[in-house]
Order: sequence, then C-alpha cells, then structure tokens
Amino acid sequence: MHEQPSQVNHADCHPRTATCPEGTCCVRVVDLRKSFGRLEVLKGVTIEFERGKTTVVLGPSGCGKSVMLKHIVALLRPDGGEVWFNGRRMDALRGQALGQARREIGFLFQQGALFDSITVFDNVAFPLREHGWTDQRAITERVKQVLDQVGLTHTIKQWPTDLSGGQRKRVALARAIALEPSLVLYDEPTTGLDPIRSDIINELINKLKESLGITSIVVTHDLQSAFKVADWLVMLHEGQVRLQGPPDSFWISRDPIVQRFLRGEATPEELSAIWPTGGPRTMGTVFENKP
Ligand SMILES: Nc1ncnc2c1ncn2[C@@H]1O[C@H](COP(=O)(O)OP(=O)(O)OP(=O)(O)O)[C@@H](O)[C@H]1O
Ligand SMILES: [Mg+2]
Repeated sequence: MHEQPSQVNHADCHPRTATCPEGTCCVRVVDLRKSFGRLEVLKGVTIEFERGKTTVVLGPSGCGKSVMLKHIVALLRPDGGEVWFNGRRMDALRGQALGQARREIGFLFQQGALFDSITVFDNVAFPLREHGWTDQRAITERVKQVLDQVGLTHTIKQWPTDLSGGQRKRVALARAIALEPSLVLYDEPTTGLDPIRSDIINELINKLKESLGITSIVVTHDLQSAFKVADWLVMLHEGQVRLQGPPDSFWISRDPIVQRFLRGEATPEELSAIWPTGGPRTMGTVFENKP
C-alpha cells in the first residue's frame, strides 16, 4: 500500500481499502461517521494505517482528529462505518475482548493526563497494575525500563507537578508504552513544547518505530513535527479526507486548502471578523516585509 498519493476532492472522497491486506494494515477506518447532536464531525472518513509505519493526521482545529483517534480505541462509538484493529472490529467489541484489544494500544492523550497526586513511578505503573501485574519487582523493572527509553529514569520519585511540560509528555509516553503496545496513538504530542523539546518527542516516536516496530498514528498541527516523523500523511478537512500520500506529495499539491494549511494562512473570510477592511492582506506578512 501507500504507493500513490491520492488527491481527494472534498466532494468525492473514495475509500482505498482494497489496497491494504490484513498483514500490512494495522488499523483501518472505513467510511467513519460521527455527529454530536446537529454537529456532523466525521463525514465518511476512510484511512488505512500501515503496520510498523508512522501515519500523521493533519488538519485544522476542530476538524475531528481527536474524535477519530477516540474511535480507534472505542472511547467513542461511530454512527456509521467500521473501525478495524489487527483484524478486529473495535466498534463492535465489548467487555473483556475490548479490554484485551485496548491493552495492545498506547494512547498519549492531548492533555497529557498524568495523575498529579501520585509519583512518576506510580503513574507509569498504573496501566501495569490495571492489567493485573502484582509482582512488585517486575513492575519496578518495567517502570525503570520505559522511563529509561524516554530518558527520564532520574524522575522516578518525583511528582508530575515538579516536571516541565516536555518531561510530562515523556512520562505520559513512558506510561503509554508500558504494556508494550503494538500501536501508539499520539494526540498533539508536541503542542505547548519549545522546538528542542518537540524534537526530542519526534525522535522518541521515530526511535519506537525503529527499535520496537511500533505502528504510530500521530495527530498534530505541528508541521515541523509532522514532516519529521511521517511515513504517510493524511489531511482532514471538514470531517473528510482532503489529501493523503507520502510527505513530499503535500508540497506539490495544488489544492488551495492544503496549500493554505501548509503556509499557515487564513482565508479572507476567516480574517474578516478581525480585519473587516481586509487590513493584513494589504500590509503583507512578517516574512514578506523582512528587510
Ligand atoms: N464528546 C463530545 N461531545 C460533543 N462534541 C464533541 C465531543 N467531542 C468532540 N466534539 C466536537 O467535535 C469537533 C471535533 O473535535 P476534535 O476534538 O476531534 O477536534 P480536533 O480536530 O482534535 O481539534 P484540535 O486540533 O483543536 O484538537 C469539535 O467541534 C468538538 O467540539
Ligand atoms: Mg484534538
């Protein structure tokens, strides 16, 4: 799979499921639809996530990226469509079978979601205990091992509130990989971090892929991070796939919506609320005005 970039028209976004045999495809969402009340968030999203690769999902705020991730772990149930993970229909699983499937997935939540009232050790040990680990020595060994993988063994006795934002993300990542997942979902892993700390997270994502063969799905609007980690890029726009393909295909796309997103440029309509007279377009951008 992943041989051809697919430039998708807003109006006719077609599934590519036939190209993804079970062995190479870790996750597949097919014609996924979800609304909250009258708000239609996902309007038929089809994406294949290749095993052992990093797929980055880009898109403007509110386009449904987190909602899509939550469907993969069945924290949300679709109104229509299918969600497959390693040959199982996640949207149909319940009870023990769902618990077992989730055990194979690490989720780095958008807000980090560390428990501030327990130490770093207990945060990372949490999923192990939740899944029945009782041998204290084995727990300690595993916690040290994953903290070592994110370069934070020295924080083991600290409280999350004493850590920097970047360290908190890395502890959350250690917790997400504690159960040796085959799939890790990252929701905005670099948001709020400075460029150096973002780069450390990017390297960690790449390291987990190279050393453990982990499949990653990274949701972000941090373009630098996206292009550093992506084997395959997908852009969501207004609840549909706008474009997907290898990273290079995005730079050559002539789709104005993709181009504007890459340039970080709002439309005149989007700006009209703050510049009713069209001010900034006549003033040029910071870069254009540079001496
Ligand atoms: N549980 C929910 N109940 C009602 N509305 C929801 C719920 N979850 C998400 N939404 C709405 O769905 C839309 C998409 O939300 P989502 O969190 O997926 O956006 P996103 O693409 O991840 O944005 P961001 O980049 O800002 O994180 C938003 O309008 C949000 O308010
Ligand atoms: Mg989100």
